[in-house]
Amino acid sequence: MKNKINKTWGYNIPEVYYGRFSMITEFINNNIPQETFTIIDWGSDSGWTSVALSNYYSDSSNVISIDSGIMYNNTSCIDDHLRAIGEYKIKNNTVLKMTFTEQTWQDIHPCPVNIQLLLSIFHWTGTGRNLSVSQWDTAFSTIIKAAEYTFIEIPNRENPNESPHEIRNWYNDRDEYDVLKQALDANDIKNKIYYLGSTTHGKKGPRKTFVVHNLALGNTIDNNVADIVKTKYQEFIM
Ligand SMILES: C[S@@+](CC[C@H](N)C(=O)[O-])C[C@H]1O[C@@H](n2cnc3c(N)ncnc32)[C@H](O)[C@@H]1O
Repeated sequence: MKNKINKTWGYNIPEVYYGRFSMITEFINNNIPQETFTIIDWGSDSGWTSVALSNYYSDSSNVISIDSGIMYNNTSCIDDHLRAIGEYKIKNNTVLKMTFTEQTWQDIHPCPVNIQLLLSIFHWTGTGRNLSVSQWDTAFSTIIKAAEYTFIEIPNRENPNESPHEIRNWYNDRDEYDVLKQALDANDIKNKIYYLGSTTHGKKGPRKTFVVHNLALGNTIDNNVADIVKTKYQEFIM
């Protein structure tokens, strides 16, 4: 049954949560024909998007949410997520309390998922690392290999209030689509990129959401991928 969660929680304004949810579900419903699928929500924070998708696709999906509370230096966001899972009686959302790294993405390569969410996450991975353009490209390509479809929301390149600023080195005055496209082409990943739209993040302004279709994966994804991922990381399951 396809219900909507009719309130939000977490640090974003409701328009951000609802706007992204509509873009994501519309794309999945129109483009992803699988009857069952696994979604990883990297940096799931308080879990609104994970819970809303789990609820909406309760007959067909497994959602795996990963966060360590690193943004706040505490794990209260995970407590909020678990509370919401209880409140909405969600059965198909597993929360992993762990810090992910590029090694984690590589660990997923042998069992790629159907869908992954990188909602305002990828720029975090460069914090303090002073990556070159080609290092950013490689990191992006490494995570793209972990899923057939990746929904990525990234800071816009023009607003001076955007943070963190490290990602500007990657953008290097190119627009966001060109950055993503050139990174994948440079790493020989066959891809198709769709622009879905943007949501406005307060004074940071609009952030765009894209979908990357990793064309190499197609029909190769195992139906039991959720179980494989959960087994791999069982010590982190909450
Ligand atoms: C900017 S917030 C985005 C939250 C959510 N995806 C959204 O857009 O509504 C970043 C989240 O990712 C988490 N995070 C960032 N890097 C992480 C890492 N390496 N491992 C685990 N969690 C991480 C933070 O704790 C925080 O909850």
